[in-house]
Amino acid sequence: MNTSTTIPTVWSPAEATGEYRDMLIRLMTRQLYAETATAEVFGRSIGVAPTWREKRLAAEFALEETQHSQMLCDLLADLGEAPEAIIAQRPPAANFWSMELDDWLHIAVFNFTVDRAGSQQIMEYRQSSYAPWAEKMGIVLADEEGHYENGVDNLREFAKQRLDEFQQVFNHMLPVTLKRAFGRPHGADNDFCLRTGLKRASTEQVMNRYLHEMRGYMEPVGLKFPPMALFEAEKVELMPSTRDILLSLPS
Ligand SMILES: [Fe+2]
Ligand SMILES: [Fe+2]
Repeated sequence: MNTSTTIPTVWSPAEATGEYRDMLIRLMTRQLYAETATAEVFGRSIGVAPTWREKRLAAEFALEETQHSQMLCDLLADLGEAPEAIIAQRPPAANFWSMELDDWLHIAVFNFTVDRAGSQQIMEYRQSSYAPWAEKMGIVLADEEGHYENGVDNLREFAKQRLDEFQQVFNHMLPVTLKRAFGRPHGADNDFCLRTGLKRASTEQVMNRYLHEMRGYMEPVGLKFPPMALFEAEKVELMPSTRDILLSLPS
């Protein structure tokens, strides 16, 4: 069944009502948290990056994440919400992503791991039934391609001499990312998003798509998925299909 033709499009803020509006605001809030926290990570990394090239890229990415954040602020304001008040509820960026902001290795792992997880979610929002949101996400995804390219470059660079250190930080950051960026892989919220077209693929599918893509860059340089015990320690809920991918390249 082609759900995109059977689920009605919501064209304007006024048409977004009831439960649909509540879920939309929850999803946008989660994205706004991620975009603003990421803007702060890249902003801080201007001071931490080892080369001018990396500092310039960090500044560019910080600006782009700020623009993404502002798009979400505007979309939320159009729905009658107060974006400043929403942002004020977010934990500090370092706690939100569970990383060290002043450590270049952490930023490199973040760039490869966390930022891309966000993009995979945004691919869903680009096809969302809420048209004002879907329209804006094309620009965001184009920027994100550049961020990920740099994330992959950084991975390759670190893999030459410091793969073990990269692996250690990755082991910590991937379980947190799965939990923070994707949420629970099943349940009523997931069903609601699929039924109303707020998302087109299930969380399980999006998570698996992300891990498949990551695996494609990890395998050639020798980076492995973290041991299963670390996902369990972080209380990440994993579907059997997701577990299979993680176990296909174990450390
Ligand atoms: Fe972004
Ligand atoms: Fe990004």
